[in-house]
Amino acid sequence: MLIAHISDTHITNEVAFKSYAFDLIANEINTRPFDLVIHTGDVTNNGLREEYEHASYLIRKIEKPLIVVPGNHDARNVGYELFERYIGPLFGVHEFEDGVVIWVDSTIPDLSDGRIGGYKYKWLKAKLEEYSHKRIKIVAAHHHLVPLPDTGRERNVLFNAGDILDLLLSHEVTLYMCGHKHVPNVYRVEDLVVDNAGCTSCRKTRKGDVNSYNIVKITKDGVKVTIRRVTGEEQEKEHRPIKPKIFIPKGKRLLRIVQVAESNVSDRRYFRKKVLENAIKAINERYKPDIVIHCGDVVEKGIERFYEMAMEFYEKVKAEKLIVPGHNDITYLGYDLFKEYFGETEVIEKGDFVFIPILSAQYETQIGVVGRIGQKILKGLLEDFREKFRVVVMHHNLVPVPRARELGYLEDAGNVLKIITDQEAELTLTGHGGNAHAVKVEKTPIINAGSISWELHRDPFGNSFNLIDVYKDMVIAFEVQATWGSRKLLGMWKIKGEVPWL
Ligand SMILES: [Fe+2]
Ligand SMILES: [Fe+2]
Repeated sequence: MLIAHISDTHITNEVAFKSYAFDLIANEINTRPFDLVIHTGDVTNNGLREEYEHASYLIRKIEKPLIVVPGNHDARNVGYELFERYIGPLFGVHEFEDGVVIWVDSTIPDLSDGRIGGYKYKWLKAKLEEYSHKRIKIVAAHHHLVPLPDTGRERNVLFNAGDILDLLLSHEVTLYMCGHKHVPNVYRVEDLVVDNAGCTSCRKTRKGDVNSYNIVKITKDGVKVTIRRVTGEEQEKEHRPIKPKIFIPKGKRLLRIVQVAESNVSDRRYFRKKVLENAIKAINERYKPDIVIHCGDVVEKGIERFYEMAMEFYEKVKAEKLIVPGHNDITYLGYDLFKEYFGETEVIEKGDFVFIPILSAQYETQIGVVGRIGQKILKGLLEDFREKFRVVVMHHNLVPVPRARELGYLEDAGNVLKIITDQEAELTLTGHGGNAHAVKVEKTPIINAGSISWELHRDPFGNSFNLIDVYKDMVIAFEVQATWGSRKLLGMWKIKGEVPWL
């Protein structure tokens, strides 16, 4: 199966549209043996009637079966109605021999953000169930699912990106195709290939890039995506599914981490004091970790009284501690109090392991940022400690979390994720969003902790902390219910051959 993935043509009679790039790519597609062409939206620039008339003529230049998904620009000016008239249905299913393409409208009229919520979510879920027998399952929508590098502020994601990611992973979807940010990028999230097309014929490319499209080849061995630019330059990435998915570790455990977040110690009713007390007792007596990592929001407000209370809890922890501040910790006088009570957040080296804390919290806002300098520091540290097992620790989540409204909690999540995955960090721990969740992006397991003792969380499992065991050849993460001690597997990932010292 060979698919041409085009996106963001932005057809208009204004300067935004580069007709020569469109013609070049359309001609190339016609001369190559593609089975299918998928356009992931922003066909037009403003959803105007004259643009749709122009677009419906131009896309007929592509002489292959074509699926077109609506983008936010197409939905502008009630353009979603014209889309159906001039281009085709906003949702649909295309079956082929051993596979299916399901495309869904992720636009919200007059907003750049996306959403596959309510009825659309139900429809997508029902279709994934209906076609669960298909070997190849492709979902296409306009908006991106995982933060993208070089897009400035990580915004206009799907509001419910975490739910959609969870849905696709639990239904063993092979490929998610999208566009929107005009940045070509391919990530592997567990066994799902997330294929972002750049822009086919819009002037607005980023970082001096040129127009491009993606070539997706699906065989029985896996998925290969090639980003092909109009200059002829190609970048290729292949993913073979992981088999088997359950393994048994070899040798003895090398390290045990207990990962905690959002204690939110305070005198408010939402703070569950007893739960935190019991959890700390269990951590000390039952789990006996080598290190306890608190991924932010130790206190609910940055005031002395709450820091005093938090200290009373956390000084009882027997293991070594690494605590990074969350946005709650640095409210009011918290910035100084955090240092006074918990000290400077510093890199910890522990034998073959190194823990790299990254500060992402800002004053008086939930939105985090690492910043351009922070990104350089992170990259430098990951390079310096290449010989070790590198654990990046931060507050804000890098991968969208289910049941949370994703608003771009970390402004530069795309760049940070790119640095971490390019440098092949062995593990990344985050703690925002109030829900435990873990996925491996490229070679890096990224584990988010839920809340250990704050009643306002989003985790159906309840208040919890994570137990992460590292072996010579694998990492296993469990979520531990903070009251009952029951465990749920978050993920297990092979790391053999990926860590130099192993
Ligand atoms: Fe676009
Ligand atoms: Fe868009």
